[in-house]
Parts: sequence; C-alpha cells; structure tokens
Amino acid sequence: MHRTHTCGDLRAEHAGESVTLSGWVQRTRDLGGMTFVDLRDRYGLTQLAFNMDTDEDLCLKARKLGREFVVKVTGKVIIRESKNAQMSTGDVEIIVTELEVLNASKTPPFTIEDETDGGDDLRMQFRYLDLRRNPVQANLMLRHRLSIETRKYLDGIEFIEVETPYLIKSTPEGARDFVVPSRMNPGQFYALPQSPQTFKQLLMVSGYDRYYQIVKCFRDEDLRADRQPEFTQIDCEMAFVEQEDVLNTFENLVRHLFQVVMNVEIESFPRMTYDEAMERYGSDKPDVRFGMEFVDFSPVAQGKGFGVFDSAEAVLGIVVPGSANYTRKQLDKITDWVKRPQIGAKGLVYCKCNDDGTFKSSVDKFFDGESLAAWAQHSEAAAGDLILMLSGDLNKVRNQLNELRLHMGSALDLRDPKNFKPLWVVDFPLLEWDEDSERFHAMHHPFTSPKPEHFDLIDSDPGAVRANAYDMVINGVEIGGGSIRIHDKAVQARMFDLLGFTPEEAEAQFGFLMNAFQYGAPPHGGLALGFDRLCSLFGGSDSIRDFIAFPKNNSGRDVMIDAPSPIHDEQYTELFLQSTAPAKDEE
Ligand code: AMO
Repeated sequence: MHRTHTCGDLRAEHAGESVTLSGWVQRTRDLGGMTFVDLRDRYGLTQLAFNMDTDEDLCLKARKLGREFVVKVTGKVIIRESKNAQMSTGDVEIIVTELEVLNASKTPPFTIEDETDGGDDLRMQFRYLDLRRNPVQANLMLRHRLSIETRKYLDGIEFIEVETPYLIKSTPEGARDFVVPSRMNPGQFYALPQSPQTFKQLLMVSGYDRYYQIVKCFRDEDLRADRQPEFTQIDCEMAFVEQEDVLNTFENLVRHLFQVVMNVEIESFPRMTYDEAMERYGSDKPDVRFGMEFVDFSPVAQGKGFGVFDSAEAVLGIVVPGSANYTRKQLDKITDWVKRPQIGAKGLVYCKCNDDGTFKSSVDKFFDGESLAAWAQHSEAAAGDLILMLSGDLNKVRNQLNELRLHMGSALDLRDPKNFKPLWVVDFPLLEWDEDSERFHAMHHPFTSPKPEHFDLIDSDPGAVRANAYDMVINGVEIGGGSIRIHDKAVQARMFDLLGFTPEEAEAQFGFLMNAFQYGAPPHGGLALGFDRLCSLFGGSDSIRDFIAFPKNNSGRDVMIDAPSPIHDEQYTELFLQSTAPAKDEE
C-alpha cells in the first residue's frame, strides 16, 4: 500500500495512529539531533520527523533525500511541539519508522514553491514541474471547478453536450485557419475549427433545442495575454429564442458561477448599446468598475483659435478625480505614454482644476481662465481634478482615450480584480468596413441576423445596420459573444452577397448550411464564452496562460515538447506536399 492518507489529511485527532504517506520531498532541514522533511502532494504538506537518537540509520538516510525525491514513509502521528497555524496539517508531524525512496530526482531547475526563482521560459520548458507548484495547481483546480459547475448548471436546464468534429472545412471569414493535409485526399486540407458555429446551428435544425459544448477552438492569430492559438469555449446554442432569452440564460449561468465558485453576488447585469459604449468609453468592452467617462469638449474647446483643436474631428477628454496635484514630470510621463506608437496620440492637453479655484493648462496661450472654467463646468470637474484631452480623428481619439482612461484607472487603483462588474454590450453593427480590402466584413460572423427593423437599410446604408449581436463584458474583458442567427436561406444568401461572395462561392463554402435552412430551420441564437478568459478573470489574473495546463508561448510554440517542428521527407511525400519553407534545423 502506498498510502493510508494524503499529505493534506492529518490533524490533531489522528495523533497516535500509524500512517503511511507518499509524496515529493519539498525541503529537508537538518537540526543535528533531528531531521525534518516536508512531504508534499496535491493535497498539502506534512512534516516528517527523524530522530538521530532513536534511529540513526534512518535519520542519515533522510538527510540524503534531495528535493523532489519521491518517497513513501510509515510512522506515528504525534502532536507537534511548535505548531504551525499557517498549515492545515500544522498541528501534527510524523515520527517516521520506515522510509522508502520510490524514485530519486535530479535537482529541479527552479524551486517548486509558491514563490519560485524560475523565469517564464524555464518554467514553460519544465511545465510538469511548474504544475507541481501550489498557485498553478490552484488555477487548474479553479478551472476544473468552473467546468464542472457549468456542466451541472447547463444540464439542469436541459442543455445537452454534443461533440462536433475537429477536422472541418476551411472558410475565408474570421481569423486564419490552422489547416491539416489529408493523405487520403491528395492536395486537400481540413481546417481545425475556429469555433463549432455552423455545427451548432445544424444541431438546432436537427431539433436538439439546447446545445452546449466545452470545446477547443483553433485560430492562427497574433497572440496576446488573453489569446492562445488553441483555446476553450463554453459554446452554446438555443432554438425558439429571442435575444433576451439568450442574455437571461447566460447571465444566470455566470451569476451562478460567481455564487458557487467565488461566493460573490453579482448585483446587476446592465445592458448598454454598442453606440453608447463607444461614446461613453471609446470601447466595445468598457471597464465599468470606475467612472472617468468621456466628455465631448468640442462645444467649449473649439473655435477659440487653437488650431490643433479647431481642425480636429473630435476633442474628447476625461476628468481624473483628485489628480490636479500631478507634477509637471508626471504629466510629461503621461504625455510620452500616449505618444508611444502603441497608443499613437500626437499630444496631450491637460488642465489642472486647482483647489484654490484657479486653472493651469498646457494650452494657457490659447485659453484664458474663463475658458478653462468653462471646460471644468462643462465636464463637471471639481476643484482638485485633472482634465486630460485628446483630439483628432474620432475613431482614433476614442481608441487612444480608452487606453488612457484604463491607464489612469490602474494608476489610481480603481481596477480592483476582486470587484466584478459585468454588462452586456448589445446592438453591434452588422458589418464593418475594411479599408485594406475595401469591402464589408461581418463584425461578428456571417450568420448573425440583422435587426428585423433594419432590413430596409441593408441596401441603402449597410454600415448603419445593427445586428442582434451581443458581447458579455466583465471588467473590460470580452468574456463572450453571440447573436441571434439568420435562419432563412434568402437572408443568408443576401448576407454572403454583402460580404462580397459570389453565389457560387457562397454555395461552395456554405451550401450545406443554406440547404439545411430549407428543411425547417427554427429561429435560433446562442453565444460562446471564452472559458480560459473566464478562469483568469475568476483567478484575478490578466494572463490566460496561467489557467491552461500546457499553453503556448507568445510565438505560438510549446517549448516543452518543441512544437511546431519539421516533419520527415516521407511525410511530405505521403501528404503530397512540397517543402518550401526552410526546415528549422537548416535555418
Ligand atoms: P467569438 O469569436 O467572439 O465568437 O469567440 C467567443 C469568445 O471566445 C474567446 N476567445 C478567445 N479566447 C482565447 N484565445 C483566443 N484566441 C480567443 N478568441 C476568442 C473570447 C470570445 O468572446 N462562434 C462565435 C460565438 C457565437 O456566435 O455563438 C464565436 O466564436 O472570450
């Protein structure tokens, strides 16, 4: 028998019992007469004690144990002389009578403790060791808990989990596909799904009514902290529903998860239109944990002879509370920050609303005290506040000021990761114009239904058409998105036409779906929640990597297994491929 208990089990009430434990050696402390070993497994740490006086050989053997050795011990539980209140097993220790080394270990390349000395790359290379660390284990436990609770909840309201294929067809919409060559069909490729979108819609045509799947999706796109090339969605679809039904169902799921997993009550789940979110926050995923909403300064700042403002399409600003005491140096730093290429502002105008009722701005040459007082009044800035303003092209200014608002929110500690403020952003535009390809793209995806009351605009003003599409946003993160779908063949065909597909191309790519719509497709809609993002939000981290057992690095590599990697010549031949890129080894 390898163990009678785990390393997290033993308490004072076990005193006197003979027990057997197995686990990893976290630390050995040699105090002369006594040697102590911390034994670790997934469940906790237990202190082992070896006494030189009672069993010298055993004690000497214990002293030789290296970090991460796997051992099995038998001994008697006793109450510790000096208890450790920080540990759940801190009341007891085991006086060891038998010690067996089950496996030795090389010295690990970094310390396997809560605070490790290992850098990112090293920890990724030895991810199986990193996964032994408590904080990483806690993240994966949280992920497990969230997936179990999601399944239980959705099962309880009649959703069934259906698996959809991973080898599917490449389509031009959306992100870049990962493709897989087919040996049996020379010159042809599968694509890995960017999402199960069309399959879940087909399941609605098949009458499954409520589908979900916790499913891997694959997208060949540039990576960021909240993006991985393979990631997981809680993918859902419902038949015979309208937008409100979908929103209510999934806000209830998320409320439930917060309640049972975090013990957090979500007070409200407001809805905000896309247009309003852009106007108030310059973002379709606003962080509403704090104010500093956008103020349109054009009525009070334009037409006063300051060329930069006068020639700008938009003059927008935010009021930063209690920050009029920022020094010149601090303001220069913020100015430099917005001028970085990642933000791209040309400059920043500030106005301090001093406590004594005076104003000091970076454009005093153009605006006298009275004008500045008008700015403060217009923006409801109080004495002690700081106004920050950007000007230029409306869309650019919105983007830049959004970044600045988030930056200032962080600087003022207004973005507490334990404060959860969700909302739905609704009424997204159906289409967005792409300057490069000079055509419309579907803002969500081509299966999203225009709002019925906007059908008339499709021909006259496609850019103005709003969709029954929605995003769930929590603390400035897009946690999920979805829409009510088109379920009519003619409307779907018109949509493909708008997106620049010829009827033949639409038929070749999506004929299966449009055909299905001719066989009794019910009205339907759904959404997908980004499961990795949900986990990292619950876990209070910005990076989804911490919540994925074996993630890729920022170049899309798994450095532990060294993938991607070159393939053999025979594989090229077998797959009817020609090697054009230099293999990594030859570079
Ligand atoms: P969408 O593309 O908005 O919608 O994706 C849904 C959610 O998945 C998460 N997500 C990602 N998470 C990690 N890494 C990525 N690369 C990544 N890309 C997306 C986000 C996002 O909100 N089929 C539709 C859903 C629907 O209409 O029902 C879809 O995939 O949290």
